[in-house]
Amino acid sequence: MPLVTLKEILSEAVAKKYAVGAFDAAEHGFVEAIIKAAEEKEVPVILMLTEGFLGLVDLDNFMPYVLDRIRRSPVPVALHLDHGTSFEVCVKAIHYGFSSVMIDGSTLPYAENVALVKKVVEVAHLCGVSVEAELGHVGGGEGDLRTGSVVDKSSFTRPEEAVRFVQETNVDALAVAIGTVHGVYQGAPELDFELLKELRSALDLPLVLHGGTGLTEQDYRKVVAHGINKINYFTGMSLAAVAAVKQAIEDREGYLHYHDLVIAGLAKAKELVKKQIEVFGTQPLG
Ligand code: 13P
Repeated sequence: MPLVTLKEILSEAVAKKYAVGAFDAAEHGFVEAIIKAAEEKEVPVILMLTEGFLGLVDLDNFMPYVLDRIRRSPVPVALHLDHGTSFEVCVKAIHYGFSSVMIDGSTLPYAENVALVKKVVEVAHLCGVSVEAELGHVGGGEGDLRTGSVVDKSSFTRPEEAVRFVQETNVDALAVAIGTVHGVYQGAPELDFELLKELRSALDLPLVLHGGTGLTEQDYRKVVAHGINKINYFTGMSLAAVAAVKQAIEDREGYLHYHDLVIAGLAKAKELVKKQIEVFGTQPLG
């Protein structure tokens, strides 16, 4: 199955009301766990590399491996740059073969966000690459694992502004802020489903939920029913893998090899991706 774009992989998700899981990888192990999980569930998947992870690998070696792994997969896979913060990094991702990029201008003033996104869209679309942008701002950070993050309601997405933003930029998917944060929450998340409903009825492009970790199964099903089509998920998978590694060390009282740890962590990560895919209701492309 060839590499597909974000636009292609989400092309039926709005009408059929399901979400495709989008999972971040920082190295080979997670790439394999994510793609294998989708293969075992026989559904499409979005493999993401976030800008913050690009420095962890030698891209000249890593990207040919990732692209080859995707080409050898029987399921459609979109390769997406997560949280690109500049025009330059998006162009670099396009050069390395990504089929989709996120340009995240969500902390910029509205006009600057529009200008940056337009510039990326112009180049990306010429290259057949999809673009995701964010309006409003989903806060938090995967780094805040100890303290967690709080939701800032003042940065929720405003529907009238979102309509204008999509018209002005011609993006392929829009990340919206409705009450999630990246990483771990301080307290329980409270999502604004009414706002999501309004956004869904005002916009007819795929909507993206960042900060997928930490919601209840009911929340996932509800955000999908109310119009989310791509759910970004990372921290949960990473923490589950770490917990499995700790457990393996404890079970064998430290007498084990490094690869035993890797195998234990990745098996857990794959299991969780499969579970999330099921809850997100991802369907095969028709
Ligand atoms: P979590 O780490 O909270 O799952 O969020 C992932 C994400 O939104 C990446 O863009």
